[in-house]
Amino acid sequence: MSVKYSKETLNDRFTLFTVENGGSKNTFAEDVIAGLTSDPKTLPPKYFYDNAGSELFEKICSTPEYYVTRTEASILKDKSENIADANKGKDLIVELGSGSSIKTRYILNAFIKQNSSVNYVPIDVSEILIQSGNSLLSDFEGLYVTGIIGEYEESIEAATKIFPQPKLILFLGSSIGNFDLPHAEEFLGKLSASMRKGDSLLIGFDLVKNENVLNAAYNDSEGVTAEFNLNLLRRIKREFNSELNEDNFEHKAHFNSNESRIEMHLISKCDHSFSLNGSGEIKFRKGDSIHTENSYKFTDEMIRGLASSAGLTISESWKDENNYFELCLMNKDK
Ligand SMILES: C[S@@+](CC[C@H](N)C(=O)[O-])C[C@H]1O[C@@H](n2cnc3c(N)ncnc32)[C@H](O)[C@@H]1O
Repeated sequence: MSVKYSKETLNDRFTLFTVENGGSKNTFAEDVIAGLTSDPKTLPPKYFYDNAGSELFEKICSTPEYYVTRTEASILKDKSENIADANKGKDLIVELGSGSSIKTRYILNAFIKQNSSVNYVPIDVSEILIQSGNSLLSDFEGLYVTGIIGEYEESIEAATKIFPQPKLILFLGSSIGNFDLPHAEEFLGKLSASMRKGDSLLIGFDLVKNENVLNAAYNDSEGVTAEFNLNLLRRIKREFNSELNEDNFEHKAHFNSNESRIEMHLISKCDHSFSLNGSGEIKFRKGDSIHTENSYKFTDEMIRGLASSAGLTISESWKDENNYFELCLMNKDK
């Protein structure tokens, strides 16, 4: 794959690259029509993150039920110095799915104490990274930001081309859990292939735990996760200029213990149909589901299996006191 991107200098410490689709990937419209005309109906979770979706995700992170962000942040707060020590000499941090980069601040702080300057490369499909990059630059002297707007795989290829030096890659928030397990294995394998000897990956895994805690986290009492899920329909309605009525759907999320994953669905509340540019009628019966996201919950065995199949060595790992979440530092030794 040869990735194409455009470059923009936002200021003397902030450069922005935008990965060009180049026709090799489906567009939003193609993916949505394919997903809604398949059986069962699905939608790719990467489309949650328009501006409203990114803002709603930030709100989810501060709901009392969503322990994921708070717990990972508490581990990062305690262990960032150890993480920086284990990556001495590196001045390059690349983050996949960086979002608001709030938790990243602990890592940047620890690295900046060790190096006079640090290059931070946030990668995200959402333009939220422009706002978060600017906010980091006003708070951290010695920081240089090179944002890449694009999908994980192409963007990491671009980052590796732009910066040849040894790096620490961050993949936080248990975003690896949004891949089905065979795809998680394939993705980590590709990520590992893009890493050079001496590079490291700091990756967060949400662990299997009491089902009530899991179910509550994706069904918060304020209904923010429901809004986040329904916002995907608002995006489709807007981008297709469609008569789709999101009020015909409701949010449903539950832990599927056989698959070790939270599943998010949009359930049709009635029989109805709508059309999307040339797709023909997309029909729903009452109770039909659109499967919008999986969020896998991991055991130690699953984590160790993923690392070893990607050819990465877990050098250190940290959990919180409740054993809710695990952060692993994985190294590329060969
Ligand atoms: C669950 S949020 C996590 C944000 C942040 N890392 C955290 O831990 O709070 C996932 C982030 O990844 C981005 N994202 C989702 N799918 C992506 C993809 N295929 N390529 C690049 N970014 C993606 C989203 O825009 C969003 O900012």
